[in-house]
Amino acid sequence: MTEKLPGSIDETVNHLTSGKYVADRSLATALYLALKLGRPLFLEGEAGVGKTEIAKVLSETLGRRLIRLQCYEGLDVASAVYEWNYSRQMIDIRIAEAAGQQDRQAIEKSIFSEEFLIKRPLLQALEADPSGEPPVLLIDELDRTDEPFEAFLLEVLSDFQVTIPEIGTITAEKPPIVIITSNRTREIHDAIKRRCFYYWVDYPDAKRELDILSVKCPEAPEEMSQQIVAFVQRLRERDLFKLPGVAETIDWTNALLQLDRIDLDPQTVNDTLGTLLKYQDDIEKIKGSEAANILEQVKADIASR
Ligand SMILES: Nc1ncnc2c1ncn2[C@@H]1O[C@H](COP(=O)(O)OP(=O)(O)O)[C@@H](O)[C@H]1O
Ligand SMILES: [Mg+2]
Repeated sequence: MTEKLPGSIDETVNHLTSGKYVADRSLATALYLALKLGRPLFLEGEAGVGKTEIAKVLSETLGRRLIRLQCYEGLDVASAVYEWNYSRQMIDIRIAEAAGQQDRQAIEKSIFSEEFLIKRPLLQALEADPSGEPPVLLIDELDRTDEPFEAFLLEVLSDFQVTIPEIGTITAEKPPIVIITSNRTREIHDAIKRRCFYYWVDYPDAKRELDILSVKCPEAPEEMSQQIVAFVQRLRERDLFKLPGVAETIDWTNALLQLDRIDLDPQTVNDTLGTLLKYQDDIEKIKGSEAANILEQVKADIASR
């Protein structure tokens, strides 16, 4: 069922909460304003902090289709917007020939019609849902594409229309809700950012991370969740190549639950570090005495509360 857009910041928070997304007020404000002003929301932040999830939750809770464009190096118009279904066109030409059809123009006209068009995400996003409401378009990890694609995207985002030479211009009746994410492996062009509402998604503070765990891993004992969060938060103060994101905190908790742990101990931490840290150098740095130190601090912190 289609839901109306949230009418206030509080409603936006509730919306996200109902989709099991724990947002702080500043993020909810950015989302509320982006929806209200009909602007794309540009979310930038480290990997695993909950950027992609926002688009998923939004589509679910609003009851709109989620259309995802996963970006990568070399992404081109054929994969992002449309391409012709060549093999079907070939078959059609053969059939027409076999049937003795001579009118080349008629054949051409028929094989360059919508029926032979393979619609990719950006074109799909111009079409309303069956409910008549526009879908949610997620342009994920834009920093992975190259600049020519960014320039093209800017065009699409500015008037939500695509021109197909053989067919004409296709325009969205109502623009889609657009969420763009970037892991900031490079800077995205100012022109794109200017068009969007920009928000930096930071690592959550301890309180919010604990809230996230209680929503995502409700089976975890409260005491252990506190230890996990405190451990991860301290780990993020270290000089590591890749700090653990929320995704890693959740993974770690699930791993510990699988091992039937209700409490952290140095051995278990060492054995499960691979769910938190994904680079051998980082694991080497933390494993053993460092991990034991952090755990000791964590337990002291919790005991002194
Ligand atoms: N604020 C949050 N509330 C609930 N879950 C979250 C939150 N932030 C992150 N997560 C969880 O962390 C995981 C990674 O989030 P994701 O959106 O994929 O990260 P990103 O796109 O920033 O790399 C997901 O499983 C998501 O459910
Ligand atoms: Mg993501």
